[in-house]
Amino acid sequence: MLFKNACIENSTQLQDFRVEDGLFKEIGNLTQAEGEEVKDLEGKLVLPPFIESHVHLDTCLTAGDPVWNMSGTLFEGIECWSKRKEKLNEDDIRERVKKAVQMYAAHGVQFIRTHVDVTDPSLMAMKTMVDLREELKDVAEIQIVAFPQEGILSFPKGKELLTEAVKMGADAVGAIPHFEFTREYSVESVNFAMELAYKYDKLVDVHCDEIDDEASRGLETVATRALELGLFDKVTASHTTAMHSYNNAYVLKLMRLLKMSRINFVANPLVNTHLQGRADTYPKRRGVTRVKELLEAGINVSFGHDDIFDPWYPLGNGNLRDVVFMGLHVCQLMGYEDIMNSYRFITHNAAKTLHITDRYGIEPGKPASFVVMDATDYYDALNRNAKCMASYMKGGKRH
Ligand code: FE2
Repeated sequence: MLFKNACIENSTQLQDFRVEDGLFKEIGNLTQAEGEEVKDLEGKLVLPPFIESHVHLDTCLTAGDPVWNMSGTLFEGIECWSKRKEKLNEDDIRERVKKAVQMYAAHGVQFIRTHVDVTDPSLMAMKTMVDLREELKDVAEIQIVAFPQEGILSFPKGKELLTEAVKMGADAVGAIPHFEFTREYSVESVNFAMELAYKYDKLVDVHCDEIDDEASRGLETVATRALELGLFDKVTASHTTAMHSYNNAYVLKLMRLLKMSRINFVANPLVNTHLQGRADTYPKRRGVTRVKELLEAGINVSFGHDDIFDPWYPLGNGNLRDVVFMGLHVCQLMGYEDIMNSYRFITHNAAKTLHITDRYGIEPGKPASFVVMDATDYYDALNRNAKCMASYMKGGKRH
């Protein structure tokens, strides 16, 4: 099939591309072959599919059930969730996750990395998500992070549960060093998670320093172990909000290690702007990691939604444009080029985070997965909150 007149990734010249056997065959100024089906895209923006690089699907779509978070704080969120947890079962998770993935798909999202809480002796959410990953594979490719929400060392049998979740088929190993009881547990938890990933050849995605405590330094351990074990860009540090509060002298030293380690970062601008800085009076910290400085150092950063309509974040409909929109404001990335290229936070940069660049992107030979936006370029798409007109996965129209 031949697609004519596409603005591919903000290109100034309109281009055509041919799709054959589910792959991009060629891109350029192409003529219709005999009997070939043609679709005229009339100058619309074509991007590789959007990627959600950080979400918790097991808690999504539960806001207000059974109670609303009235203060909006993290702690009241935990109280609300403990009430909601009483009616958590397999059917409940299945129903909500399927709905959320369809919501994402309608906005052109085809890849989702979800963290799943494994500090549960029954590992029910984990088992359910492993099934759903297979069941929903034609809607979105789901990556599962075994996420020890209540700690690895600080939760009974935390190490065993994390190991079991990896054996059940998690794609990535998680950790939450800032939540562990002590600094020693924090370091040991990261060491344990990284060695587990190394042993089972898994990716790593750590909830790292999601706290406004400038003394929270899980990141240096994550980066050091990524370097020493040779895991490099298979490792991701999510949130790293404490880095917002680190002193500049320490950040200067840390940057060298971060560059050497080649790890990825995920910032979650919606949720961390909303939840961080709650212990501050004024000035009130923004609570998002140093995105601009990381990018300037050549370090990969993608953006995630983190929570969708749950006790910790009461809004969200699966449209990653909102994440980018907030991220650009809060990280002061509002220059013309910053805005034009900001789709990369939820496309190419996120593909690096998910470690899928070998099968991602609009290039001959790669799977013909792409979205068509009702816009002339991404600046226009972002500014007008343009609709995703179509989403093709491996050559097939999904939406
Ligand atoms: Fe998270």
